Amino acid sequence: MTDVLDPEVQPAASTADATWWRQASVYQIYPRSFADADGDGIGDLPGVTERVPYMASLGVEAVWLSPFYPSALADGGYDVDDYRDVDPRLGTLDDFDAMVAALHGAGIRVIVDVVPNHTSDRHAWFREALAAPAGSPARDRYVFRDGSGPDRAEPPADWVSIFGGPAWTAVGDGQWYLHNFAKEQPDLNWANREVRDDFLHTLRFWSDRGVDGFRIDVAHGLAKDLPEGPLPTWAEVLASPKDGQHILWDRDDVHEIYAEWRKVFDEYTPARTAVAEAWVAADRRARYASAEGLGQAFNFDLLEADFDAAQFRTIIEFNLGLAEQSGSSTTWVFSNHDVVRHATRYALPARNGAEEKQGSAWLLAGGSQDDLDRDLGLRRARAATLLELALPGSAYLYQGEELGLHEVGDIPDAERQDPAFFRNPGVDVGRDGCRVPIPWTRQGSSFGFGAGGSHLPQPAWFADSSVEAEDADPDSTLNLYRKALGLRGQLQSEEHLEWLETGRDDVLAFRRPNGWTSVTVFGDEPYDLPSGELLLASAPVADGALSGVGTAWLRS
Ligand code: GLC
Repeated sequence: MTDVLDPEVQPAASTADATWWRQASVYQIYPRSFADADGDGIGDLPGVTERVPYMASLGVEAVWLSPFYPSALADGGYDVDDYRDVDPRLGTLDDFDAMVAALHGAGIRVIVDVVPNHTSDRHAWFREALAAPAGSPARDRYVFRDGSGPDRAEPPADWVSIFGGPAWTAVGDGQWYLHNFAKEQPDLNWANREVRDDFLHTLRFWSDRGVDGFRIDVAHGLAKDLPEGPLPTWAEVLASPKDGQHILWDRDDVHEIYAEWRKVFDEYTPARTAVAEAWVAADRRARYASAEGLGQAFNFDLLEADFDAAQFRTIIEFNLGLAEQSGSSTTWVFSNHDVVRHATRYALPARNGAEEKQGSAWLLAGGSQDDLDRDLGLRRARAATLLELALPGSAYLYQGEELGLHEVGDIPDAERQDPAFFRNPGVDVGRDGCRVPIPWTRQGSSFGFGAGGSHLPQPAWFADSSVEAEDADPDSTLNLYRKALGLRGQLQSEEHLEWLETGRDDVLAFRRPNGWTSVTVFGDEPYDLPSGELLLASAPVADGALSGVGTAWLRS
């Protein structure tokens, strides 16, 4: 590409800047699948530390680490045994401190995952609850109810967990506990003061260790309001409006919890940040994102859209409007550890409004690479990412997307790990395919992930998408991300955009206040670019025309 501004120039990382998060590019690390320094087949924190130069070369401003806490991995680490420690297989607290120091040394901030809706069933509190009688303070930290029917041998209600199967599990004395996810993830009772205080302790624990922010798992689930008497049926639960008074989700009173958290965040300089994972209606996101609450909330709308100009424009306009209302900045996400990678989603036929999650039918049909238009998917993913990185707001990038990685769809059943697969036979294949350890080298044990192999099988096609292979290719997706992130740091300005008339329904163009212009061609026909200095493009530009399925950045 011609005329690239100096990609070596990284955004200045001032620790005193309290608004660093508003338009940050954040790189999500799934630690068990990132880099394995000790060769036990599982990625670890020293592995992250070793790769800090890689992240610096990428030009991201922050990393978010999915859980690295002690865990039996019933849900990939989102089943936490101890919120204030490191899983011994991933390292120690000293390793954590060394990692934070290395990241900070490179000007990269650190966000950690907090999982407050549920602990694991190995957490000291849950063990204590099991050993204690019904009605005890130990059981009050969770959501226990008597079973129904003779001998209380039937569940208190017919509720279904999000991973499939019953949401209530018996403990052998007539009582049952609620788990909205796997049975190894008992839901906490957030009406209990001790639970609340313990999480304040956890937030301070990591903030004191230099953590800059938190990603809050299932942020809309903490507050619940179960009646003491008979519980509603699952059909009734599903039918009840999500108006802030729902029995399980997105209750208005959850924000009392986050108001307390905000006070803790604001004890620090700069204030610690937080982003909510809240699967709520778009018009209810603003409260999670408010300055009195968590401060920012994920917007998954683009992640759920087809590669389609009209859908993208509607989503972008809507979310920029919401951000103005909440006073927060918006967030953009195409991939994370829970969804089929976006290069693969875009390699499949559009859903045209169908409800199913993009990629799930392909996964169920065997997830073969042969059924993908891999090249088209990658070209679309590159174009979408370049558009994303030009938008106002934060961009959350998932490890491996900078390599243009496709989903590994055909993992043998015997090697799958995700509870969503085990609990939903024939319905859900689960999320392992985006959690396969990423390839660092063309060859070698586990493509350079670590000497001890990989805990999920890696396909042969990983070789050509490895960091080593892409590093050497100036036109690779890795080098596109590097250039784009470097430029983004230099071009970022106020959180506004102005749409430009393109004369075509399949072309979106917008200009940021400082003249930074992004043009995306969703269809196949080339498009004559407006005048301006061409900075970067995800697809060829010939005679001033951007080829189909591409994004170009210009400066006017
Ligand atoms: C969130 C996480 C997901 C996890 C679930 C339960 O949605 O992103 O990975 O399974 O919460 O903790």
